[in-house]
Amino acid sequence: MSASRRDGVLFVEDCDLTTLAERFGTPLYVYSRAAIESAWHAYDQAFADRDHLICYAVKANGNLAILELLAALGSGFDIVSGGELARVLKAGGDPGKVVFSGVGKREDEIEQALTAGILAFNIESRAELTRISAVASRLGVEAPISLRVNPDVDARTHPYISTGLKENKFGIDIHQAEAIYAEAAGLPGIRITGLDFHIGSQLTELEPLADALSRSLALVDRLAQSGITLSHLDIGGGLGIRYQDETPPTPQALADRLAPLLDQRPQRLLMEPGRALVGEAGWLLTTVEYLKPGHRDFAIVDAAMNDLLRPALYDAWQRIETVAPGSTEPRVYDIVGPVCETADSLGSNRSLALEPGALLAIHGAGAYGFVMASQYNARPRPAEVLVDGGTAHLVRERETLDDLWQGEHLLRTS
Ligand code: LLP
Repeated sequence: MSASRRDGVLFVEDCDLTTLAERFGTPLYVYSRAAIESAWHAYDQAFADRDHLICYAVKANGNLAILELLAALGSGFDIVSGGELARVLKAGGDPGKVVFSGVGKREDEIEQALTAGILAFNIESRAELTRISAVASRLGVEAPISLRVNPDVDARTHPYISTGLKENKFGIDIHQAEAIYAEAAGLPGIRITGLDFHIGSQLTELEPLADALSRSLALVDRLAQSGITLSHLDIGGGLGIRYQDETPPTPQALADRLAPLLDQRPQRLLMEPGRALVGEAGWLLTTVEYLKPGHRDFAIVDAAMNDLLRPALYDAWQRIETVAPGSTEPRVYDIVGPVCETADSLGSNRSLALEPGALLAIHGAGAYGFVMASQYNARPRPAEVLVDGGTAHLVRERETLDDLWQGEHLLRTS
């Protein structure tokens, strides 16, 4: 593991977290380069005996330095906006390894992606197909496309992050996909290259994924009969991580489960992991401001729901530990932030030995942490640090008060 205790103090790689907090202040996101790279290699090795491409889901953590180190490993990227494409390019990513997902691609974003020369558009509706055909024709290019099918399987995860059921807004009903492929085959500016699904996030079971793949492969066979051959299959992302006591499947278990289904199929396999690559490689450091005993004992810390939204939005549980051993007896606290919302909680019923000034580390904060942060309550967003051995690189500066009103204009009415 990339976090360990030395003389009771929590380290990430060879960096003492108390020193990082003193140097960069809190709240502070800390990432481990070694943890990200080893998670990426674990995925890559699991699928080594098959032509494959890992397209890291940028939405999980889009920090340029993280994209840069993944690009250097040869990773591809899964994007959902023109902004994410711009980030990938800025970080040195290869546009030829980019897939573009998302239900609401704007015309300018489609144009941007076509101009960059991405690997494929994951098309989520018939209307989007028509639009991409029109934009590509206007530009005189061909858009490589795959249809994101909705296989109607229950991913058995939190309803907010489940995407493969027919009542979800994502993808094209698998029963209509054949007709839409046939239509795509006749459209100008369209080159059919693949098929894609993504059924949800924080998956802790493999069967829903295997089920989605089986249904998709049956479709691939039907398409082949009508003369539509595909060069890639994209199985989306979704492998979970261990926040508490989950036992999510490893990439190797995923590869082993899918191997007999894929058998000798010639298609290149694409996958879009986000959380599994960066989730356990990040921590949010926060300092206790006040202890407020009462009907419930509150520890009020300097991080809040604007910095880490998952507990408030999904009632998500993330492990919280003191960075250094406390000199008090443990008590059961609700860890809350300064934001004026009852939902502003980072964790309840946590047994911790706390005193004002104590430093806490929230685990599992590498994915869907900073990217979901806001400036709510006029709180500048935290800094981000990437640890590499004993070196800590500041990869995003803490926002300043000036950043808060950047681009705003006074009326100057008086
Ligand atoms: N591909 C597509 C098309 C996606 O929509 C997603 C995530 C991924 C890949 C990556 O999924 P992952 O491997 O990270 O599970 N904010 C939520 C998670 C939202 C996931 C949205 N889509 C959370 O904090 O739990």
